[in-house]
Amino acid sequence: MKTAVNDMLGCEFPILAFSHCRDVVAAVSRAGGFGVLGAVAHTPEQLEVDLTWIDEQVGDRPYGVDLLLPQKYVGADEGGLDRVRLRELLPPAHQAFVDDILRRYDVPPLPDSERRRGMGLNVSPAGYEPLLDVAFRHPIRLIASALGPPPTDLIDRARGADVKVAALAGTTAHAVRHAEAGADIVVAQGSEAGGHTGEVGTMVLVPEVVDAVAPVPVLAAGGIATGRHVAAAMALGAAGVWTGSVWLTTVEAETDPVVKEKFLAASSSDTVRSRSITGKPARMLRTPWTDEWERSDGPGPLPMPLQPLLVGEALQRINRSAHSPGSGAESLATYFVGQVVGSINAVRPADRVVLDMVDEWIDAIGVLADLAGTPLR
Ligand SMILES: Cc1cc2nc3c(=O)[nH]c(=O)nc-3n(C[C@H](O)[C@H](O)[C@H](O)COP(=O)(O)O)c2cc1C
Repeated sequence: MKTAVNDMLGCEFPILAFSHCRDVVAAVSRAGGFGVLGAVAHTPEQLEVDLTWIDEQVGDRPYGVDLLLPQKYVGADEGGLDRVRLRELLPPAHQAFVDDILRRYDVPPLPDSERRRGMGLNVSPAGYEPLLDVAFRHPIRLIASALGPPPTDLIDRARGADVKVAALAGTTAHAVRHAEAGADIVVAQGSEAGGHTGEVGTMVLVPEVVDAVAPVPVLAAGGIATGRHVAAAMALGAAGVWTGSVWLTTVEAETDPVVKEKFLAASSSDTVRSRSITGKPARMLRTPWTDEWERSDGPGPLPMPLQPLLVGEALQRINRSAHSPGSGAESLATYFVGQVVGSINAVRPADRVVLDMVDEWIDAIGVLADLAGTPLR
């Protein structure tokens, strides 16, 4: 599995794993893949702890860090607003709607000691620059940006530190913008992906992006969980794959056990693109939580970053009570995941997932070689 990406990133296999969980990141990098730590919700202090731990675990194996750098969000014109200002923008009717959901589903309040008052997403320069400062103090090989083209100062800083820059794109136009901005790698992420996602499917998007940004290497993302998917992505012209959902049910993943069980039981029809967690369309498991936000008599989600501020504590309450008998929290509980959740039916260690992908990839290209009349062995 040798492509331009192996040399660029120093990994054995061009299999990239996005995860918020440092154990998954380290396990994938140790297995020869390339782990990328999602850091948008980290504080600088947490990120320092996690990256120090990863450094100890991976030795000289490479890894990266991912941040959300959106162009459009509430307060973008002012360079981001502080939490107090953002809180003032939360409409009382929205807060009442959230309170009503929690009441109807009997979700108990949090003990005072656990209240975080909303989920912090570090999407403004004031939020993500301290995270970049931490990341660049560690031997990262890649910095990835989602939701917008990588800013010029990030590209300059990465070049100076010999760190590659990847950017996620959901349309060919976005991919071209990322390449023009100077991204070293473009991730073409189809609509079936977990997390923030557009409307074009991986099968259509990847070859279009490959042609549009050549010679910049493209990683295929969205719906990739097996070696057959990897072979298909490479047949479409991708230089490797960028994966997310498949790691959520691994042994190392910190996914809530209730949600993990739901993922293992889910079919590929059980996800929905919903703005109910971050304010931007993101694919997640469909549950009564996502249905509530689709109600025609409801207020609908707020834009980023107001929605995460609005619902952060509610989601914390739901997750905390999802295991308690008598609470409706179990049914509401959801998390980001892609359509490929339907084929994820077993818990495996993360290194096993990498090695299974490689084995299945060899089998898949063997089948294709047989079809061409030139058997591999
Ligand atoms: C739980 C979860 C959270 C995600 N959060 C982010 C994020 O913070 N930043 C990002 O660039 N991509 C994020 N993504 C998208 C992944 O980077 C990746 O593109 C996607 O998972 C690939 O599709 P797949 O889920 O079908 O493998 C997330 C995906 C999942 C499943």
